[in-house]
Amino acid sequence: MLEVRTNTTTPPAKNGDCGIGSPASDVTSFAATSPKPAPLKIGDLVIDPPVLQAPMAGFTNYAYRQVVRELGGAGLQATEMVHARGFLEIDARTGDYPERLWGVKDEARPLAVQIWDNDPQALAAVGRRMAHELGVSVVDINFGCPVKKVTERAKSGSYLLRSPERVGELVAKVVEACAPTPVTAKIRLGCTRDRITSIEVAQAVEAAGAAALTVHGRTAQDMFTGEACWEKISDIKPHLKRIPLIGNGDIDSAEKVVQAFASWNVDGVMIARAALPKPWIFAQAKAALRGEPIPPDPSLEEQRDLMLRHYDLVVRRFGPERGTLLMRKFACCYAAGRPGARDFRKHVAHVTTPEEYFAVVRKWFPQKESTAITTD
Ligand SMILES: Cc1cc2nc3c(=O)[nH]c(=O)nc-3n(C[C@H](O)[C@H](O)[C@H](O)COP(=O)(O)O)c2cc1C
Repeated sequence: MLEVRTNTTTPPAKNGDCGIGSPASDVTSFAATSPKPAPLKIGDLVIDPPVLQAPMAGFTNYAYRQVVRELGGAGLQATEMVHARGFLEIDARTGDYPERLWGVKDEARPLAVQIWDNDPQALAAVGRRMAHELGVSVVDINFGCPVKKVTERAKSGSYLLRSPERVGELVAKVVEACAPTPVTAKIRLGCTRDRITSIEVAQAVEAAGAAALTVHGRTAQDMFTGEACWEKISDIKPHLKRIPLIGNGDIDSAEKVVQAFASWNVDGVMIARAALPKPWIFAQAKAALRGEPIPPDPSLEEQRDLMLRHYDLVVRRFGPERGTLLMRKFACCYAAGRPGARDFRKHVAHVTTPEEYFAVVRKWFPQKESTAITTD
């Protein structure tokens, strides 16, 4: 459980290098006395609180987004990334949207759809449809994905960070196609540590008419190793004249959200991995930013209900068989960092039916808090 610490207020510490650093000793008093982050504006859209749920392929589908939405606190949520040419092929073949757009048509707004490609026509065509056919709030373009299928094979995602000019061309096409819907870009610091291009790319993104920039403070070469460099994210800010800067990387608590705003020159923050085991982190961050006590993590019983709710949403869409298989990875995430998680994962990773899923969840996330997670 997260504690609300009550010792004397000290300012947050920055790391010797450029990681996000350790939070203030008393985050509630610290947040209450520090200036609140200004409202984040993406075009005409006000993102309040300025804390965003990151796109994560394979995870941030409609069911996950709905769980986050019901818990509250995320100022803007995003889909998984959608391949523009893949979208157009599926459309030509079946007339359907890709599965990654499950729920987008009818779900609550604000909502960002993320697209990727290196083909300006395809990106513009899909962006236009997202903006005008589905009426999404934001069209985000991925320039950060480091996986080979996207970089080496499709010359897209973080591959494009070596060419700020090309990034600018792609963004400009999508901006034109989506207007007046705002278009944003999500980048990493560069392709490799000795080739940081984030400032040039940021300037190209802004000049092309984008409405915001999100930066994950690692290079593509880093993948997910080491610490995200918040100093290098902050360094971009003086080079942006008009658009907000959203920092991303390694935020895993409400305290660190407060810390990010206090220590680094960013207008918004985005959370990805930590929101898989703790989809309630956004509600905690919202309270922390207001200087209110951080709500405790849900009880085990509430977490169990959340896993059943999440499962219900997945099964309604995919049916009991496929839904159960799909839910395994989400259930594994929910257990992260909890006592008995290894055993829980071992069992939940093999469930094939709703009965097996319910049995495992009820055993490891028991009714009474006092029984806690137990191992065999
Ligand atoms: C499983 C997984 C899938 C991801 N998929 C996407 C994606 O589709 N689009 C994107 O821009 N970033 C994607 N990312 C990167 C995250 O959005 C985020 O930038 C990164 O995880 C750093 O933030 P964090 O430290 O809060 O996790 C993904 C990350 C993970 C772990």
